[in-house]
Amino acid sequence: MEFNRQLLVDRLKAEYKHQDLPFSLHIFNTLSSTNQTLWQLMRQGEKPGCVVIATQQTAGRGQWGRQWQSSAGGLYMSMAIDPKLEATSSYQLTLASAWGITAQLRKCGLPVGIKWPNDLVLNGRKLGGILTETKVNQGQITQAVIGVGINWENQVPSTGINLKLWQNSQNYQIIDHLEMLTSKVLLGINSGIECLQAEGISILLSQYLDVLTNMGDQVYVNNLLGTVVGVTQEGNLRLKMTNDNPKAPIIPEICCQPGTISLGYPQA
Ligand code: BTN
Repeated sequence: MEFNRQLLVDRLKAEYKHQDLPFSLHIFNTLSSTNQTLWQLMRQGEKPGCVVIATQQTAGRGQWGRQWQSSAGGLYMSMAIDPKLEATSSYQLTLASAWGITAQLRKCGLPVGIKWPNDLVLNGRKLGGILTETKVNQGQITQAVIGVGINWENQVPSTGINLKLWQNSQNYQIIDHLEMLTSKVLLGINSGIECLQAEGISILLSQYLDVLTNMGDQVYVNNLLGTVVGVTQEGNLRLKMTNDNPKAPIIPEICCQPGTISLGYPQA
């Protein structure tokens, strides 16, 4: 399966009208990981805006040290950015990218949402994910890579969904090729990061919450039942606790860090 560079460039030119494209595109067939190759290119002097795309990956990296299955037919790409943020705020890059990509896909009419913190979801299933990696010096992020994997026509696990098949089942093709999806994702990352830098985390977070699919979900933490009521400015999940034991101390709300609880997906 070949990736058509010209098709992507044409789509990006249409989006950016007469402006110069803010990306330098590096397109490969098989790579270990687009994040890994992008870091190598940056060590060789590539700048923010550098983008690596692969048609498949042999060692795709997921969140929390997991593997990301990356067979042919999916979108695997990474973009270098220059975020000017403190290291403690790196989670903001993931929230901003997830929101930006979701907003672009929704603008096209696709009912995509976000599952906290970084999953793109469609029809209750995982459509894609984001892995942000950073280099830090004296508490400041000096370089960052946003890696995105989206299921296009690759095989997916039972909790996943691929966009091409789902569109077929709806009898429409809003996004009709992988290169168009790629242009939407590039635009989405850029617009999400721009929104974060121009407006700050409060505004970004309120837009993120508008497309969060977990609001009202119920989840157990240490045998206590909580209901998802939001996400804090620090990127933690807010749970309003059900206090049904009159003898237990009342805990009104708790906050969970990413990676400490799983909101899960229904099995197919
Ligand atoms: C997740 O676990 O949900 C995040 C998955 C991110 C996968 C993408 S695929 C392109 C880029 N390169 C990688 O090695 N990982 C990210």
